[in-house]
Amino acid sequence: MARSSVDPQFHTIIEPFRIKSVEPIRFTTAAERERALEAAGYNPFNLHADDVLIDLLTDSGTGAMSSEQWAAMMRGDESYAGSRSFDRFEAAVKGITGLKHIFPTHQGRAAERILCGAALEPKDIVPSNTHFDTTRANIEAVGAVAVDLPLPEARHPEVLHPFKGNMDVDALRLLLEEDRDRVPFVMLTVTNNSGGGQPVSMENVRAVSALCRRFGVPLMLDCCRYAENAYFIKLREPGYQDKSPREIAQEMFGYVDGATMSAKKDGMANIGGFLALNDDELAQRARNLLILGEGFPTYGGLAGYDLDALAVGFGEALEEPYLRYRLRSIEYLGERLLAADIPIIQPTGGHAVYLDAGKLLSHIPASQYPAWALSCVLYLVGGVRSVEIGSVMFGRQPDGSEKAAPLELVRLAFPRRTYTQSHVDYLAEVLLHVGAMRDRVRGVRIVEAPPVLRHFSARFEPVDGALIG
Ligand code: F0G
Repeated sequence: MARSSVDPQFHTIIEPFRIKSVEPIRFTTAAERERALEAAGYNPFNLHADDVLIDLLTDSGTGAMSSEQWAAMMRGDESYAGSRSFDRFEAAVKGITGLKHIFPTHQGRAAERILCGAALEPKDIVPSNTHFDTTRANIEAVGAVAVDLPLPEARHPEVLHPFKGNMDVDALRLLLEEDRDRVPFVMLTVTNNSGGGQPVSMENVRAVSALCRRFGVPLMLDCCRYAENAYFIKLREPGYQDKSPREIAQEMFGYVDGATMSAKKDGMANIGGFLALNDDELAQRARNLLILGEGFPTYGGLAGYDLDALAVGFGEALEEPYLRYRLRSIEYLGERLLAADIPIIQPTGGHAVYLDAGKLLSHIPASQYPAWALSCVLYLVGGVRSVEIGSVMFGRQPDGSEKAAPLELVRLAFPRRTYTQSHVDYLAEVLLHVGAMRDRVRGVRIVEAPPVLRHFSARFEPVDGALIG
């Protein structure tokens, strides 16, 4: 991949920014972490942020804003209707997406809820490469069916594919041939978060779009990480090397009829989102729902200053030095892990490294939640907070029974512009240390859990009395 430094002869990854404002992080002792984890019921979601040294729980809303964004916030116009902040926000989103109606929302799932409320009927089907959890939940909340159609390669962590986030176009064709009347729209998630932060190729966007047009079905992008996806296209897809990430993003949006966005990712801000639509009639229904739940259409649940931070952030997310450094530091951590035989989803994605805990801790059965145990051990050993994407998150079935998730993963998601290369080196050190003691890691059992979304609040205990034997 492209180097992340000034001159190709230098290989050191350097951040393309310097630091103007700092936030201390707190060092804890192993004994303190042990007590904190026990008090948290062995659930990293229950930890106090103060007890975490490096927080990789999510890349959503956790990034650092630039001095230009902070300056823009001071220009925020808090008028209830028709604010100048909205004009700047709308111009920024239209400049990238070219879409006609732009509705700000407080975050991504609000845009999803409005789209689903405006476009879906019970029993409808919404295909995607892979729906993110909140998108799936919003589709199911109106009685419709969310269908994932990823590539077969996406199910195998170690299989290399430059665009492992692609949708299976043949599977989509079959679904549309059979059930076109039940499909109000198709979605594409860029990058494919649930599949490992893997990108979707322009060729795939074009093919899915052509198929949707043939069947007269609108195509929507879940574009949270559109800038990272655009940069992967530049690096990996023939014909895009000399195009800018902005030009690539513009082409990608040119193939779709609408988009939902969590601007807490590639909007480079701590809160925000939008719904963008071309269709006037659908937009009218969405506008009504927006007013009902979020606010007047020129602020949609956000302050004027949030809109201004986003208007600047959308552009910053597309800057090449930033994207090069971001993707390269994640790739670098992946390389360090692979060199030490620590299994991960390959290739590394745009916003996170996904550890294959099922393989690393193959001595722990799925019923003892190996990925959950690994996530706890990363905290105990290094003060690192990560998130399990495995049988705790997905194992409980609607009828109350348990079924192992297809993969036991731990996601290390990188907040944007927040940690430095020395933090990444520290992470590598912690992970290598845990890799070397993998045989000593023990599983966990659930002590108490709510019936739905149990990972957020369940309490656990180690099956053998301690996590590390
Ligand atoms: N779509 C994708 C692909 C996402 O990754 C997320 C959020 C959303 C939609 C929902 O956006 O949180 O602003 O309402 N992902 C976060 C994560 C929570 O940690 O991956 P939201």
